[in-house]
Amino acid sequence: MKKSMNAIGMMDSGIGGLTVLKAVKALLSKESIVFVGDNARNPYGPRRPEEVVQFARQIAHFLIEKYDIKVFVIACNTATACALPVLQKELNIPVIGVIDSGAKAAVKTSQTGRIGLIATEGTVKSAKYQDEIHSLKPGAKVFAQAEPDFVQLVEKNTYQTTAAEEEVAEHLQDFGADKIDTLILGCTHFPLLTKSIQKAVGSGVKLVDAGAATAVDLAKSLKSMDLLDTESAAAASYELYTTGPVDAFEVIATDWLGQGDWHFAHLPVEELEQK
Ligand code: DGL
Repeated sequence: MKKSMNAIGMMDSGIGGLTVLKAVKALLSKESIVFVGDNARNPYGPRRPEEVVQFARQIAHFLIEKYDIKVFVIACNTATACALPVLQKELNIPVIGVIDSGAKAAVKTSQTGRIGLIATEGTVKSAKYQDEIHSLKPGAKVFAQAEPDFVQLVEKNTYQTTAAEEEVAEHLQDFGADKIDTLILGCTHFPLLTKSIQKAVGSGVKLVDAGAATAVDLAKSLKSMDLLDTESAAAASYELYTTGPVDAFEVIATDWLGQGDWHFAHLPVEELEQK
């Protein structure tokens, strides 16, 4: 049965999208959110773009059919890079990605125009960040590095260990020579590693969280489209689906989001494949 919640629908390839959810909830506390983390098919980063489009499309259809969502937020850089224009054409609700907001925030933050980007291999290869930054600031220099291993540190819940901190430091050491003043966390998993990343690149480099920048733009867009929930008397609700094991998802989610009225549920991949 279709639940009419007037909710914001969101997706990611796994845990990462919860960084966007947290930022959206902080700004828009009255809005109900339904989230799908596709942990069973994570990572999206090394997949063919057509496959990522298909996964994002299946999740959008699930959320539209079951929840009548009013907007679909692709809280995943890789899926934004692959699927945003396609889904904006196909779906009859607004579809919002994370890359434009992240690129815009980075250009605004950087004083020197030397901008680092860490993201999945799919996002780096798509060149969406590089193109958007150059269109906003033609003289900018973008130093892009794929960091697929960081996604696994988060998915496997080892991101708070000393070994993770050392791995991050080792991977990011080359940015020192690039003399960047701004680093884009171009994967929604990466804000969970903020402490280690900041330590690795030094306090002189400003980190830009593309998901947090998206939350600000989402609030503005919903307002301009007159889609903000100003009526709802009921408290906002949060339904969090994962295609992977619920227990593991719940542990990382509550650690990151804090205790709250979260409703966790399993969504079988087979159900998505029928969409
Ligand atoms: N969280 C995703 C992103 O923002 C991707 C991680 C992955 O599945 O490779 O790109």
